[in-house]
Amino acid sequence: MSAAEACDPDYWIAQALSPVRFQDGLSTILAEGPHILVEVGPGRTLGGFARRHAARSPEMEIVATLPHGSDDARATITAIAELYVQGCEIDWHAFNAGRKRQLVSLPPYPFRATRYAVDMITDLAPTTAQPEASAPSESREVLFLPTWERRPRRGAQALAGTTWIIGPARSEMTRTIAAAVDRANGRLVQLPATANQRDMTDRLRAGAPDRILHLALLHDDGSDRRELGYASLLRIGAALHAANVAAPIDVIVAARRVFAVDSTDRPDPDAALLLGPAIVLGQEQPNVKVRIIDIGQDVQDAAVTAACAAPSAAISALRGNRLLERSFRPAGAIDQRIRLDGHYLVTGGLGRLGLTVARELASRYGARLSLVGRSVPDDLGQRLAAVTDMGGAAEALSCDVTDTDALTQAVRSAEATFGPVDGIIHMAAETRAFASIPDTDDATSQRMLAAKVAGLQALEKVLGHRDLSVRILMSSLASVLGGLGFASYAAANAWLDAYAEASGRWASLCWDAWAEGLQADDVATARYALTTSRAVDAIERVVAGGLTGQIVVCGGALDQRLANWTALAGDTATAEKNAVDETDRVRGIRDIFAEVLGRADLAHDGDFFDLGGDSLQAIQVVSRLRSRFALPVTPDLLFAHATPVRLAAALDRLVATQASPADLTRPVSEEARRMVEVMSGDEVNRMLERLLAEGQPT
Ligand SMILES: NC(=O)c1ccc[n+]([C@@H]2O[C@H](COP(=O)([O-])OP(=O)(O)OC[C@H]3O[C@@H](n4cnc5c(N)ncnc54)[C@H](OP(=O)(O)O)[C@@H]3O)[C@@H](O)[C@H]2O)c1
Repeated sequence: MSAAEACDPDYWIAQALSPVRFQDGLSTILAEGPHILVEVGPGRTLGGFARRHAARSPEMEIVATLPHGSDDARATITAIAELYVQGCEIDWHAFNAGRKRQLVSLPPYPFRATRYAVDMITDLAPTTAQPEASAPSESREVLFLPTWERRPRRGAQALAGTTWIIGPARSEMTRTIAAAVDRANGRLVQLPATANQRDMTDRLRAGAPDRILHLALLHDDGSDRRELGYASLLRIGAALHAANVAAPIDVIVAARRVFAVDSTDRPDPDAALLLGPAIVLGQEQPNVKVRIIDIGQDVQDAAVTAACAAPSAAISALRGNRLLERSFRPAGAIDQRIRLDGHYLVTGGLGRLGLTVARELASRYGARLSLVGRSVPDDLGQRLAAVTDMGGAAEALSCDVTDTDALTQAVRSAEATFGPVDGIIHMAAETRAFASIPDTDDATSQRMLAAKVAGLQALEKVLGHRDLSVRILMSSLASVLGGLGFASYAAANAWLDAYAEASGRWASLCWDAWAEGLQADDVATARYALTTSRAVDAIERVVAGGLTGQIVVCGGALDQRLANWTALAGDTATAEKNAVDETDRVRGIRDIFAEVLGRADLAHDGDFFDLGGDSLQAIQVVSRLRSRFALPVTPDLLFAHATPVRLAAALDRLVATQASPADLTRPVSEEARRMVEVMSGDEVNRMLERLLAEGQPT
């Protein structure tokens, strides 16, 4: 700013009226090449935004100079140390000005960023980790199979208030539901599954419904099931977001052939895609409760109506007059052993897990591995050497697995080198284009679904007729647990799971995080992460036991995580939750942070905003904290105590001193104010509406 600008009223008016083009500014800086970003000023809000910028590479350092809640002098020195370690030149004379310093002799070798500490992620991890987390009821079992247990049917509630039906207008079922709505003096709105997002947004702005019954996939008229289920739910989620609906809404998705409930069921993978947006919608928008009910062919319309009006689990099924709920049981002992010493085609084989599996199979059995990927990495020689050094043979094949002709050529070339293919491990995937439901456009869906879905279809065309001993699909626990930003990723994996169930030949392994797949700042998620050795043991057991269909491979606490992630919002809020001890409280907060941040889990005491949390996610955290602990948590409390341990201590003090909500609601902190200043108008509206809906002072 020039001296003239400082005295110019127009300058200050423009400052007040012009938008802060932080995103554009960042884009320009990031386009210039690698930078270290320094947040000058209190807090980490801007760093959080920068961390989420699409052009930010994971290695880019973001240094906070005055993170909220820390000692200023110490924080500044830590920031300078971080910059020094990153190779920045520090003006030590300026830094030391006015202070006396003395020289200290240090060992004559340079500091290197090499860790020699014993790694947390080892096969011994369960003996050192928290007993509750590492020792779930199933002890060291990692394989779990879906199972459906009968539950008592509940009495239907009246369909009072406003009900939206998404699906064909003149079906028998619609008429049955319309009659039930009529009996309860309710109001009915009917929309086709193809209703566009703008139209729905306008209707939602005019008045949100109490419930949305999504019935489009109950009518098997040969229409595009991906469009009627998956795409339609994405549009509904985006419309709810655009209309800033804060009131509670029940969404009931009743569909056919989503799961294999009975042994005769053959799920339809295109229908199962709806699981992605359906599970994730309730996680991204906490006011929305989503239930998915798989309806058997033999179920009467009246039973569907009753199910739609009766609260039940997040995932259930109706077969005849039986109501069933899904859970997972340990796969149990598999005595057979198998030697995976053949020739395996590994799609996505040059990626993180691809190479990991290849190295392990090479070292265990000297396997021959054809590693398929579209691009040829610069360090291809090193990657292949990492496999061959282990005693196996490896070849890279550059091919898009969705391209049947290219795949045919690649298989021909692989077989010329290593002989007939004995098995496939399909792990090609898009693992970077995650997006929240409102941001999931057609291109994102295409990208996410291509490698997994079209890739498997191409593999079936090229190798489906072969007698292969290994048919593994690398799915993800996201298809079961969901996760923020995972709507299309979870959908792609749900497609694989359903395909495997229907085919009876493939095993779709829903993996928990792998230790090798963790980012540097995820290292603490070792609590659940699977080591290579346990993961490849799991693959061997699946193949040896001839297991097919959907199989969850989970590093720990599956029941607890299912309860945390997929329990219907609000169902767990009870006053006796106040009695939880501090450890439970810390763990509960950490799980909420993990859910909201969409990360598998965070085992360390990370600062929410440091971990990339933004203001809207902060509001989600507050809402879930209230629900989980039945305490009047305020956004300010989170801003002031942003780590699980500090926040747990603050909540404990709250309980101990029996403070009233009024004691808690202090004036909005500087951090909160700054956040609101950098939020868009839409974000501010959403935040304020939510705060108002929750009775918070604004
Ligand atoms: N990492 C984990 O902890 C974890 C956890 C659960 C599940 N999984 C699943 O495990 C699999 C591997 O994950 P990862 O972490 O190793 O991912 P990754 O490092 O991103 O590797 C995926 C690979 O797939 C390749 N690929 C993508 N599209 C392709 C296409 N159309 N044709 C051929 N190759 C293609 C990519 O290479 P190009 O771009 O060069 O083609 C990339 O090398 C994925 O299916 C993922 O969903 C991973």
